[in-house]
Amino acid sequence: MALHSCLLLLLLLLQISLLAADEAFIGVNIGTSLSDMPHPTQVVALLKSQQIHHVRLYDADQAMLIALAKTGIEVSVSVPNEELLAIAQSNSTAANWVYRNVVAHYPSTNITSICVGSEVLTTLPNVAKILVNALKYIHSALVASNLDRQIKVSTPLSSSMILDSFPPSQAFFNRSLNPILIPMLDFLQSTGSYLMLNIYPYYDYMESNGVIPLDYALFKPLPPNKEAIDSNTLVHYTNVFDAVVDAAYFAMSFLNFTNIPVVVTETGWPSKGDRNEPDATLDNANAYNSNLIKHVLNMTGTPKHPGIAISTYIYELYNEDTKAGPLSEKNWGLFDANGKPIYILHLTGSGAVLANDTTNQTYCVAKDDADPKMLQAGIDWACGPGKVDCSPLLQGQPCYEPDNVGAHANYAFDTYYHLMGRSSEACNFNQMATISTSNPSHGSCVFPGSLGKNGTFGNVTAASMNSTSLDSSANNVHRSLVLVIGVVVTWGVVLL
Ligand SMILES: *[C@@H]1O[C@H](CO)[C@@H](O)[C@H](O)[C@H]1NC(C)=O
Ligand SMILES: *[C@@H]1O[C@H](CO)[C@@H](O)[C@H](O)[C@H]1NC(C)=O
Ligand SMILES: *[C@@H]1O[C@H](CO)[C@@H](O)[C@H](O)[C@H]1NC(C)=O
Ligand SMILES: *[C@@H]1O[C@H](CO)[C@@H](O)[C@H](O)[C@H]1NC(C)=O
Ligand SMILES: *[C@@H]1O[C@H](CO)[C@@H](O)[C@H](O)[C@H]1NC(C)=O
Ligand SMILES: *[C@@H]1O[C@H](CO)[C@@H](O)[C@H](O)[C@H]1NC(C)=O
Ligand SMILES: *[C@@H]1O[C@H](CO)[C@@H](O)[C@H](O)[C@H]1NC(C)=O
Ligand SMILES: *[C@@H]1O[C@H](CO)[C@@H](O)[C@H](O)[C@H]1NC(C)=O
Ligand SMILES: *[C@@H]1O[C@H](CO)[C@@H](O)[C@H](O)[C@H]1NC(C)=O
Ligand SMILES: *[C@@H]1O[C@H](CO)[C@@H](O)[C@H](O)[C@H]1NC(C)=O
Repeated sequence: MALHSCLLLLLLLLQISLLAADEAFIGVNIGTSLSDMPHPTQVVALLKSQQIHHVRLYDADQAMLIALAKTGIEVSVSVPNEELLAIAQSNSTAANWVYRNVVAHYPSTNITSICVGSEVLTTLPNVAKILVNALKYIHSALVASNLDRQIKVSTPLSSSMILDSFPPSQAFFNRSLNPILIPMLDFLQSTGSYLMLNIYPYYDYMESNGVIPLDYALFKPLPPNKEAIDSNTLVHYTNVFDAVVDAAYFAMSFLNFTNIPVVVTETGWPSKGDRNEPDATLDNANAYNSNLIKHVLNMTGTPKHPGIAISTYIYELYNEDTKAGPLSEKNWGLFDANGKPIYILHLTGSGAVLANDTTNQTYCVAKDDADPKMLQAGIDWACGPGKVDCSPLLQGQPCYEPDNVGAHANYAFDTYYHLMGRSSEACNFNQMATISTSNPSHGSCVFPGSLGKNGTFGNVTAASMNSTSLDSSANNVHRSLVLVIGVVVTWGVVLL
């Protein structure tokens, strides 16, 4: 018995270390309900400029998959709910789907997972019965193409199927779904896949009638008397996101599945809402997504599985203006259709994703496809009537090279934009200019607005860069880490 328990613990530790070896990533969902959906090449240009290396599509759009080829971006494709019935009823339909939408693009387009349907168990009870069949058929088509190790198959679940999710240690899945859920978890476990979960603290907060504090939903520090404590494990939860992920782990372990990792396929916060949605604001959306990104990339894990990566896709890349429903539905995006950020994330120092948004810096630069004659006219105006000091553009000065109209326009436009206090009207130049979050500085040519020189932010030293809005949440994570270590110990005891 003792030997058995030791083995079990060893296996568990091995498993955890294997899981922890994977880095957590932040990806972004790309919904397409826009009246002027950007062309796939523009979408990809935005992804690259924002250093977004993971995306999830709600279908397997051919043009999008082609545009994503050879970009290094990892792609999750989806079988839309409308196509599920056909796929679940016919192995060959499933095989055709996989051939057309996956095999034909791989490995040039790096497809890493297939989402089979979306929130099927909670929204489409009739289709739910055949969901596991669809998962198996899609998977066996991957096996036939020898791609099952590279590409995982799963199905995004709504967190609403976890009932009584607080305290997390008592959470369980809606039992009436067990006949589907158990074979589904069996499938995920035996194929080395993961549980895909959509988590919306915004709705949890809205529906809680004041029970959930806003700060707790937004990953902001709480006074100790407001912290949520799991009375069974004595773990302090500092945010809704972690509590829901742990609720999913506990709900799985009640069904005896203890080693299926969780990937969050959707989460986010709307930046604008109707009158009865007062917490859908720019500030809250910015706080949620900025704190989320820091939390995920810091690999803190959750109290139940500290240090285990919870890779997460933000909902979503663009505001989807043609979505039905309340105003908030149209305002979950990080960018508008022109690729202009809705808000600049507070991301000091995280580096890996949306990295050039870091310290609320924006620049005004020439559009890629701008007519050189128009750009020259813009330069002449900025350096003349616009009162920009264009001396750095003169031969022998730091911004002379590269000596082309686009690079010179960037400097002149950006300087004017900063002179005007970064007002968006100041970045127009006959529509030849656009606001960017990428720092165009190069060599000794330092653009206004960039750190380290006399721009908008003055001479910001490395020390002050490390301590912006992050401080309070960093303390917070420290605190939960200490608690977490306590939990692991208790946990080991329970297991043995
Ligand atoms: C992001 O900013 C860095 C430093 O300013 C720059 O080197 C890099 O090229 C930028 N990335 C993109 C994709 O523009
Ligand atoms: C695709 O992504 C996986 C997972 O990160 C990586 O291991 C692999 O090298 C990538 N493949 C290609 C062709 O880039
Ligand atoms: C489904 O097709 C795959 C090949 O695509 C095959 O390996 C598998 O055995 C088939 N399964 C069933 C149940 O027919
Ligand atoms: C549990 O799932 C069943 C079947 O989908 C549904 O009818 C029921 O409302 C769910 N229960 C709760 C509490 O959500
Ligand atoms: C989980 O495993 C325990 C012990 O093996 C067993 O008693 C229990 O019935 C199992 N639960 C489920 C839902 O299979
Ligand atoms: C970011 O910049 C905008 C103006 O462009 C300003 O209104 C906002 O307060 C800034 N946010 C921070 C945190 O500096
Ligand atoms: C910033 O200020 C420090 C001292 O205050 C100085 O040493 C450094 O050269 C300055 N950096 C720039 C780019 O002006
Ligand atoms: C900043 O710019 C002002 C004028 O715009 C200049 O007087 C000052 O010396 C500059 N400071 C640094 C550190 O470059
Ligand atoms: C800022 O943070 C980075 C990495 O987090 C670290 O390497 C660097 O030493 C820090 N700088 C200061 C001045 O604390
Ligand atoms: C990241 O995690 C480390 C410990 O692993 C902690 O010291 C740090 O405060 C955390 N930072 C944030 C921003 O969560």
